[in-house]
Amino acid sequence: MTPRWSERRPLIIAHRGASADAPENTLAAFQLARRRGAAMVEFDIHQTSDRRLVVLHDPTLTRTTGVRATVADCSLADLADLDAGSWFGPRFAGQRVPTLEAVLAALGPRMAVNIELKSGPRPYPGLEVRLVTMLRRLGWLRRALISSFHFDRLVRVRRLHPTVAIGILVHPWSLTTAIARARRLAAWSIHPPAREVTAALVNRLHAGGVLVLPYTVDRPEEKARLLRLGVDGFFTNDP
Ligand code: G3P
Ligand code: MG
Repeated sequence: MTPRWSERRPLIIAHRGASADAPENTLAAFQLARRRGAAMVEFDIHQTSDRRLVVLHDPTLTRTTGVRATVADCSLADLADLDAGSWFGPRFAGQRVPTLEAVLAALGPRMAVNIELKSGPRPYPGLEVRLVTMLRRLGWLRRALISSFHFDRLVRVRRLHPTVAIGILVHPWSLTTAIARARRLAAWSIHPPAREVTAALVNRLHAGGVLVLPYTVDRPEEKARLLRLGVDGFFTNDP
């Protein structure tokens, strides 16, 4: 039997979906990751002006849809017809900026998700409670790893749920900060930039009781180097 996601080693996390071969953070990229057997997909969430959770990386729509606007200033209806695929290639024309609900529905009953909480130009009011409520309602709490560079948002997530898996991102990278944050939140994992990872770092983090999941690695030799160092998995655009 395939082990559940939290026991998979290495845990291969499709960064923004299979984003080397399909437009990042679209259903096409997530479905491709699923077909390739990735155990988990990573994606980034923002909140619209009418407080819906949507999946894209940047706080603005410009790079992936060509529309010069900020997500926080758009309603869900404003996003509905935008083309988030053509920038990547003509055959992806018509891919949308998906809602979080649509992504979860597309992933099916076996995959796990790493949901990264992004920030807009202003704080997103109520994003964390909306997220935890949705994950609970749809039965995803045990298949979700919630991460962010914004520690205050992870603190809010932990207050909302005592055991949901939390992953710590730190920028600029600091081992001391990462460990302190992981302890405070009883985090499941720390996600360092791949170039920072050494054997000593892996050992220190493991001694602290957290998993080590570096981002983002695509070159086979870099994946092999990290696995030799004993990381528990990694983020890749090419799962
Ligand atoms: O969560 C790992 C990675 O996604 C963090 O950076 O900018 O790709 O969201 P970014
Ligand atoms: Mg991300």
